[in-house]
Amino acid sequence: MDHWEEKYRANTIPWDRGGASPALLRWLEADALAHGRILVPGCGRGHEAVELARHGFHVTALDIAPSALRHLEAELAAAGLAAATVCADALAWQPDAPFDAIYEQTCLCALPPGHWPAYEQQLFRWLRPGGHLYALFMQTGRAGGPPFHCEVAEMRALFPATRWTWPEGDAERVDHPNSLFELATVLVRRPADAG
Ligand SMILES: C[S@@+](CC[C@H](N)C(=O)[O-])C[C@H]1O[C@@H](n2cnc3c(N)ncnc32)[C@H](O)[C@@H]1O
Repeated sequence: MDHWEEKYRANTIPWDRGGASPALLRWLEADALAHGRILVPGCGRGHEAVELARHGFHVTALDIAPSALRHLEAELAAAGLAAATVCADALAWQPDAPFDAIYEQTCLCALPPGHWPAYEQQLFRWLRPGGHLYALFMQTGRAGGPPFHCEVAEMRALFPATRWTWPEGDAERVDHPNSLFELATVLVRRPADAG
């Protein structure tokens, strides 16, 4: 059985906040998210996908763990909301059409760093030109994982300025009950690799 599916079945999921991330709630409250089709890769139990659907987004929620998606589907049904759920490997899946936005909350840090360049390629491919990547970069300050530490300098190299527009200023710190924290930032996919 897949590592992640095993964790969900055993309910050993310390990353799960039990509700939507405060970062997403702040972005929603500020009406800062681009409306339209949004993908949530590595959605887990999908609290953020539910919140996005509640706010009228056309949500596709993807995860490799079927149990996590079953939980999300039950939550959606209980709330009378709709979202597409996809059980697939984020490194292989391709959508029929590109997305307007992606909400990337700790799928990257779940992948071994050797897979990060392939995942960046996927994010670039999944988004339409000008599409927004709402990213939460996990900060553990330690070697090993998952979760793997997403050092900002390393993220800038992974998401190069030739392919992604970075905002001015520092990323916003988002605390996590598991005592780690994430850095929230919004990247914009450039039309093509300008490198
Ligand atoms: C740290 S958890 C975060 C879950 C959720 N985003 C959250 O914040 O609660 C990482 C998630 O990524 C999923 N995942 C890991 N590798 C994946 C892959 N290759 N393709 C799709 N999902 C994957 C896991 O099943 C897990 O739900």
